[in-house]
Amino acid sequence: MTDTAPVRWGILATGKIADTFATDLALVPGHELAAVGSRRPDAAREFADRHGARAAHGSYEELVADPAVDVVYVATPHGRHLEDVRLCFAAGKHVLCEKALTMNADDSATLVAEARDQGLFFAEAMWMRTNPNIRELARLAAEGACGEVLQVRAELGFAGRTASARLWDPALGASALLDVGIYPLTFAHLLLGEPTTIAAAGVLSERGIDVSGGATLTYASGAVATIAWTQVAQGDSRAVVAGPDGRLEVLPRFHEASGFTLVQGDRAETTELPLTGRGYAHEIEEVGACLRAGRTESALLPLDETVSIQQQMDEILSQLGVAAR
Ligand SMILES: NC(=O)c1ccc[n+]([C@@H]2O[C@H](COP(=O)([O-])OP(=O)(O)OC[C@H]3O[C@@H](n4cnc5c(N)ncnc54)[C@H](OP(=O)(O)O)[C@@H]3O)[C@@H](O)[C@H]2O)c1
Repeated sequence: MTDTAPVRWGILATGKIADTFATDLALVPGHELAAVGSRRPDAAREFADRHGARAAHGSYEELVADPAVDVVYVATPHGRHLEDVRLCFAAGKHVLCEKALTMNADDSATLVAEARDQGLFFAEAMWMRTNPNIRELARLAAEGACGEVLQVRAELGFAGRTASARLWDPALGASALLDVGIYPLTFAHLLLGEPTTIAAAGVLSERGIDVSGGATLTYASGAVATIAWTQVAQGDSRAVVAGPDGRLEVLPRFHEASGFTLVQGDRAETTELPLTGRGYAHEIEEVGACLRAGRTESALLPLDETVSIQQQMDEILSQLGVAAR
């Protein structure tokens, strides 16, 4: 891919996040929506007209076969990600896949190995990691703005999305941890790395999916993280990172941070770096930068960390009593 040619995206599926992603994609110079693919031809046509895509395909197979597509954004429910990403790889397409990457760590590791074997770009669309405020907070924490980070607390709660089948149907990958808890878990990993112990508890639905939970993680450094997640309550969705010299408080909702405050004793300083669009533009820019530089992995969206976090989610789900899928 040259420095000047636009990055040509294909969007696989036409649901809620696909719509938001396409809206932000239009704001990023040097990127274009080449095509969309849907199981429903009418939905593909309507989506293409709304977002100015050049082609509308009535199946995912036709989308990945489109030679005018460089990279596919997979936006299906996570229960389908394994097969949909493989479809893209089989057609030789680079992939940005929505979170959670897959239903378990083994499947994630399989996809990562296949991407590496084929020399294709691959990343989980964990957009929080590319948010400029989160990046700056992580940089300040690593530089010692709080002293050594010894405590992280992060919680995320959504409610009122009862109509969405994918949040409740085990076959579609429903899991509050995979949908919502992945953010506080990734945030803790960003600041503290891999934990040494995890103690988790939660509540399951009648159909055996987790709807709310919490976990305490400890680290070799002596740090502790507490995280909580729910898909049935409107949590305050705050996060804080603390050490002996101060703390960094993220403005809610932390996973889409519009800023943060560094508190050191009586002093408080707020940083608010602007987001482009809804905040998805930053992951789009990162994928474009990687493709133009010929990189198949992003340092901001590291695949090995994605797999590690999936392993932690396997452990948490097991402690919650959720059957492996
Ligand atoms: N990054 C974020 O902020 C964010 C936010 C929300 C969701 N997500 C992730 O994005 C993924 C999709 O979430 P969403 O909220 O966009 O879901 P959604 O609104 O339900 O849309 C999912 C789309 O997937 C396709 N699909 C294929 N097989 C399906 C099936 N059996 N049942 C339902 N849909 C099926 C459908 O598109 P077609 O009919 O066109 O084929 C559908 O519109 C999930 O993995 C979720 O975790 C990320």
